[in-house]
Amino acid sequence: MPETTQQLYFSYCDIMQKAADVNYASAVLGWDQETYMPPKGADARGRQLSTLAGQAHEILTSDKLEQLLKELSTRGDLNDIGKNNVRLSREDFEKNKKLTPAFVEELTKQTSECFNAWIEARKKNDFSVFAPSLSKMVALKRKQAEMYGYKVHPYDALADDYEKGITVAVLDPVFAGIREQLPPILDKIKAAVQVDDTFFYRHFPKGQQWEFSLDVLKSMGFDFEAGRQDYSEHPFTTSFAPSDVRLTTRVDENNYASMLWSCIHEGGHGLYEQGLPEDQYGLPLGSAASLGIHESQSRIWENCIGRGLDFWKFFYPKLQARFPEQLTDVTAEAFFKASNKVEPSLIRTEADELTYHFHVMIRYEIEKQLIEGSLDVKDLPAKWNELYRQYLGITPPDDKSGVLQDVHWSHGSFGYFPTYTLGSFYAAQFYAQAQKDIPNLLKQVSNGELAELLQWLWEKVHRHGRRFTSEELCERITGQKLDPSFFIRYIQDKYMGIYGI
Ligand code: CO
Repeated sequence: MPETTQQLYFSYCDIMQKAADVNYASAVLGWDQETYMPPKGADARGRQLSTLAGQAHEILTSDKLEQLLKELSTRGDLNDIGKNNVRLSREDFEKNKKLTPAFVEELTKQTSECFNAWIEARKKNDFSVFAPSLSKMVALKRKQAEMYGYKVHPYDALADDYEKGITVAVLDPVFAGIREQLPPILDKIKAAVQVDDTFFYRHFPKGQQWEFSLDVLKSMGFDFEAGRQDYSEHPFTTSFAPSDVRLTTRVDENNYASMLWSCIHEGGHGLYEQGLPEDQYGLPLGSAASLGIHESQSRIWENCIGRGLDFWKFFYPKLQARFPEQLTDVTAEAFFKASNKVEPSLIRTEADELTYHFHVMIRYEIEKQLIEGSLDVKDLPAKWNELYRQYLGITPPDDKSGVLQDVHWSHGSFGYFPTYTLGSFYAAQFYAQAQKDIPNLLKQVSNGELAELLQWLWEKVHRHGRRFTSEELCERITGQKLDPSFFIRYIQDKYMGIYGI
């Protein structure tokens, strides 16, 4: 008896959700690895994760799934949600199939070798320890781009893994905007009276930092019945379902800025995960649109809201009450200014909102050249240092604070970096739209009322899952394509109030 569309769709959902069960079980183990696992647990954890990854891969590449997707694509009586899920799953399936099992295995092996080489190289502070592994990785990624196929640039094929549909043709103008428009702003800031942020480095006890972070996350609308926060060495967000989202943070008692911003940032990621439709568990419409959109959610909260004066009108008295000694001589205005201090520096993850994008642009230019074959790995440190001199006016004293600072390339993640800049640019464009759609938004923020903004983000972004690409979402929300001028205007406004430029 031929099966009805509904029966077929049910079988498809069942397969996808079983794969999700396995993947989220891996995510629990991965979260534990970064938070509570004792050091001796590493070997056993490694094999557990690898077994689960194999199982998920098997489910997601099965003939049964392929046949179901093929058959369901021909059925006209699927509803709209079903059609979108099937369309996206089919695209994923076809893309995965382009890589042979032998290639995937080789890539997995090379990734772990390359990551270990990176750790070793960082320990020795010596890029040459990393170079041979990285060369092999670049060769594999170039091969992967050929296997995926591309129309114009091999980088397009790889970047698509992180930001569907993104290409060099879209990214080049974005980074050209940064190259041309940010240096004059930076020059004006450098010539202005500088901001004092030394009070951030007073002693802020761990427990009070933690308590305040929970207050802020609650005010943002993070649901602690459907998530929690823990400590880890590097802050991250992971999710096992919209009803179980994990944030992590780190605390430096002698640098309060370190935790505060990363906490609001991860909170923004967490709100996106909690806002995904629960009834689409394991299906494309139940997952985030792209890394760039994910990052837009963290940055709208961290930068547009959290580093804004209106936010601190409400929160600063509460912060001062928690840290009466440390902040007694610091006004809300001084705190706001310090939170937005601009200063060229060596490390991307510690950079301010403006110079951050030079760090990303430098990585983008370098990885594009590595993938197209116009730059050799052995010339990477020289190129890196040259670009840092050119755009940030500083030269890394060693490899660790230069070319070895990020883990991404050791993971084979070429095409990932631009999603950080896209995130900031989408955030600025969405934020401008939110202020139009919610006319008294800033007033609400200054009263600590953040619910309407969260509702707006849910309505415009969260609830759609992967239904729209980032470009489509941007057009739907703002009526136009990604336009870097929103970001430029946003930072000009901000720094006018701080540096008087
Ligand atoms: Co982030």
